[in-house]
Amino acid sequence: CERIILDCDPGVDDSIAIFLALASPDEIKVDAITIVMGNHNDIDLLANNACLLLQMCNRSSDIPVIKGAKKPIAYAYHGHSGIKVHGENGIGNIKHPIKDFNQNPIEQYKDTSAAQFIVQHVLANPGEITLCAIGPLTNIGLAVSIGGERFIKSVKRVVLMGGSVGGHGNKTAAAEANLANDSHAGRIVFDAFPDITMVGLNCTRQLPLSQEIREKMRKLHAIGQFCFDITTHYTEILHSWNDPPCFNDPTAIMYLIKPDLFEGQRACVDVEDSGRLTSGQTVADWTGRWGRPLQTFVLMKVDRNGFEKELLDRLAKLTMF
Ligand code: BDR
Ligand code: CA
Repeated sequence: CERIILDCDPGVDDSIAIFLALASPDEIKVDAITIVMGNHNDIDLLANNACLLLQMCNRSSDIPVIKGAKKPIAYAYHGHSGIKVHGENGIGNIKHPIKDFNQNPIEQYKDTSAAQFIVQHVLANPGEITLCAIGPLTNIGLAVSIGGERFIKSVKRVVLMGGSVGGHGNKTAAAEANLANDSHAGRIVFDAFPDITMVGLNCTRQLPLSQEIREKMRKLHAIGQFCFDITTHYTEILHSWNDPPCFNDPTAIMYLIKPDLFEGQRACVDVEDSGRLTSGQTVADWTGRWGRPLQTFVLMKVDRNGFEKELLDRLAKLTMF
C-alpha cells in the first residue's frame, strides 16, 4: 500500500480522483490532502470542497485537509479559465449535497501551510511518502525551497497529473493547465526530483469523460450521482470549446493503483517558464542530448476499457456517510 499526500485543487476531476483514492485502500493510503490554488483562487472554497468529499465518504476524521498556496510562486493568479470550467464553486455549480459541510474536524494543522506540512510529514517518514500532485505544483515547489536536499531525498517519488509532450496544451495552445498555472513551480519540481511519473494529456486524452461512463457512474449510488452532477457543466463547457472532456486527475490515481494499464517512456522533462507562446510547456528530451538524467516516466498509452472497468468497480464500493 502506497502512502500519499494528495496535493489538489478540487475541482471536478480532482473530486473523482479523491473518491477513487478513498475507494482503493489496499493500494493507497491517503495520509493528507493538501490544497493549492488552480481551478479556483479561493483556497477556503477548495479546502471546503475537499472536506465535503471526505465527509461524504465518512473519512473526515482521519484525513487532514491542509491549505496551501493562494497564488503562483512568481506571479499573480491567472487561472480564471479554470473557474469557468469547474464552476464558481469548483464542483460544477451544483448544490452541495450536505448542508452543514464546511467544517474540518481535524484542526491540528490550521496554522501550518501545505508546503510546511509536506516537508514535515516527509521528513518524519523518510522514503515512505509519495507526492501525488493533481493541481499546479506550487505547494511542492515551495516545499522544495523550504526543505532542500534532505527533503528531496526523503520523498519516495512524485506522481503528477500535468504536462503534455508534443506541443498540445489545454489551457494554452502549448501548455497543460496545471503547468501553465504555475510554470515556475513546475520548473522547480522537474529540476529537483529524480523520480517523477508524468500523467499528462498524452495519456489522459485517451480517456474521454463520455456520456456513457457518466451514466454508468450515475447508476452506482449517491456518490456516483454526485460524480454525474458535477461533470454536467464541465463536459458541456469543454465540448462548447471544442476540447473534448477527459479523465485527467483520476488517471494519476489509477496509475498508482494499476500501473499495468499504462505504457510510457523515460525522458528528461523540463518546463518552459518564459516563452511568449509556450510558458508552462513541458519539453521532453528522450535521448539524453541535454546530458541530464532521464528523471521522468512519461505515460503515453492507457488501456481505456481496463481503466473504465477499474474505476466503476472501485467507485461502486464507496458508501455515502
Ligand atoms: C488539470 O487542470 C485542472 O483543470 C484539472 O483539475 C486537472 O488537474 C487538467 O489539465
Ligand atoms: Ca486538478
